[in-house]
Amino acid sequence: MAARDSDRFTYRLWRYDGAQGELIPLLQSAQDHFGYIPRRAISYISSVTGIPESDVYGVITFYSQFRLQPMGKYLVRVCAGTACHVSGAKMIIETVQDELGIEVGDTTGDGLFTLNTVACIGCCSLAPVIMVNDETHGRLDPASVRKIIRKYKRAEEETRREESVATCDDET
Ligand code: FES
Repeated sequence: MAARDSDRFTYRLWRYDGAQGELIPLLQSAQDHFGYIPRRAISYISSVTGIPESDVYGVITFYSQFRLQPMGKYLVRVCAGTACHVSGAKMIIETVQDELGIEVGDTTGDGLFTLNTVACIGCCSLAPVIMVNDETHGRLDPASVRKIIRKYKRAEEETRREESVATCDDET
């Protein structure tokens, strides 16, 4: 595979000496560069290192730090730490999955929401807790978490409506 401009991260950040242990920093630099690890980066890494694509893919899926899809505009992190777990985190996760139509680790088809779980957000007294980007929401139940997700969806719809009105005004 020929290196494109967007693949140059490997030249700047990494000199491969044939050691398999170098694969992790290389994957990290790819993710830093693209925001996730695209298919073309896997092919490129495989061609440069000689590590089969299936093995590169295996390492990516083994470590939770790596993403195979771009991050959504809104990162929804549901706390699954002990305090949240005993306060119903499982129900919160299921509700968010249902509301967004995705599984943990996935991004919605419109690129708006990515859903992850975390070990502890650091405000256990508010359990169960979620974060949407930098905003923390606590003392949740399935109804209130649905409300929160729908609030973000509505805000997005309004933004899109306003943008399309602005575009129409520009055209007149
Ligand atoms: S366990 Fe959820 S915030 Fe600490």
